[in-house]
Amino acid sequence: MSIIDLQNITHVYQSGGEKTVAVNDVSLTLAEGTSNALIGPSGCGKTTLLNIISGLLTPTEGKVLIDGKDVTELPPQGRDIAQVFQFPVVYDSMDVYGNLAFPLRNRGAPEEEIDERVQVTAELLGLEDRLHVNPANFGPEWSQLVSLGRGIIRHDTTALLFDEPMTDVDPGRKLTLRRRISQAQKRLEVTSLYVTHDQHEALTFAEKAAVMKDGEIVQYGSPEELYERPVSTFVGNFIGSPGMNFIDCEFAGEDLKIGKFTIPINESMRDNLDSSWTGLELGVRPNLVNVYDEPEGGGEIPAKVTLTEHLGSYQIITLEMEDIGTVVKAELPLEEKTDVGSEKFIGLTPENIMLFHNGEAIENGKK
Ligand SMILES: Nc1ncnc2c1ncn2[C@@H]1O[C@H](COP(=O)(O)OP(=O)(O)O)[C@@H](O)[C@H]1O
Ligand SMILES: [Mg+2]
Repeated sequence: MSIIDLQNITHVYQSGGEKTVAVNDVSLTLAEGTSNALIGPSGCGKTTLLNIISGLLTPTEGKVLIDGKDVTELPPQGRDIAQVFQFPVVYDSMDVYGNLAFPLRNRGAPEEEIDERVQVTAELLGLEDRLHVNPANFGPEWSQLVSLGRGIIRHDTTALLFDEPMTDVDPGRKLTLRRRISQAQKRLEVTSLYVTHDQHEALTFAEKAAVMKDGEIVQYGSPEELYERPVSTFVGNFIGSPGMNFIDCEFAGEDLKIGKFTIPINESMRDNLDSSWTGLELGVRPNLVNVYDEPEGGGEIPAKVTLTEHLGSYQIITLEMEDIGTVVKAELPLEEKTDVGSEKFIGLTPENIMLFHNGEAIENGKK
C-alpha cells in the first residue's frame, strides 16, 4: 500500500528526427489502497505513463514519488511494483506453482514460506485447482491471473499496474477475469492503476478514473463525477454509452435558442453566459432526454425516430430533429412505443442539461 504521486510528468520520445510528446505535464496523486483507472483513446499516452510509474521509463521531466520518496531514477526492481501487461508473460517451462513461486525462489526464500505464499495467492485468484498445470495449456485469462499472482506473491508489493490486461481475452471470459482482479485488489488493498481504452471496464474496476487525451489528464474523478459533471465535451462524449448528446445553441439574453426553439435555463446558468459568445453547446445525457408523444405545453422540439436499439433492459432511440438538423439519442424503458418513423417531442429542462463553451463545461457559469 502506497501513495503514488506524479509531479509534472512530461515524456518526449525521440526517434530519428521526430519528437513525440507522449505525456504532457501530468500531475496526479493516487491515494493509498485505492483502485484507479486510466482511460483514453489509443495513442493518448497511457502505456507511457504506466511505464514511468513502474520504472521501465524515466520521464523527460517531472518526478515520481512513492510514499513521499523520489523514485524517478530508480529501476523497476527498486520499486516493488507489480505490472500486468497487455499480453500475458508466463514461463511455460514451469507449471503454475513454479510461476508463482519464481519471484520468491529468486530471492532465496525458504520453501516453507514459498509454499504458504503460493497457496494464499492461488486461493486469492482462484488458481488453487490449477497449480500443477502448465499455464500454456489454458486461455489467456488464466495466464493473466498467473502474471498477476507472480506480481502480488511478495508481501511488499507497493502497487499494482495493469496495462489493458483484457486485450487477448475472449469477450466471454472478460467478466470473470475482471471480477477476480477486482476481488484481489480489494482484499489486498493495494494502490492500483488499471489502464484501458474501454470505459465500461474502467468504471466497473475503479473508485476513481483519470481520463487522458493527447498526453494530458483532462479529468480525474469518481465514475459518477465523470458521468454527471464532465469538464469538457470530450469527457462527456467519451464517458457513457452512448455518450452525451451535444446541440449547438445560442444565448439570447434570457434563454437559450436552438434554431427557432427556446430552451428555458435557470438563474445560475444565465449569470454565467454571455450573449456575445459563439461556440456554445448544450449537452444532455441520453437518459435525461425527455421524449413525449404530444407537445407538453410548448418549447418541445419535434423529432422523428430513425433507429431503435433494444439493449436488454432498456432501449436507445435515435431521434432526428429535422428543423435544426441535429440527431440526439435517448434512453427509454422498453415498454415505451418507439416505432421507426414515428413523431416525438423532445423536452430539455435546465436540471437535465449542461452547457459548454468552446468545448469546456460552464460549471454554474464559472468556466
Ligand atoms: N518507443 C516509442 N518511440 C516513439 N514514439 C512512441 C514510442 N512509444 C509510444 N510512442 C508514441 O507515443 C504516443 C503515446 O503512446 P502510448 O503511451 O503507447 O499510448 P497508449 O498506451 O495510450 O495507446 C503515441 O503517439 C505513440 O505513437
Ligand atoms: Mg497502450
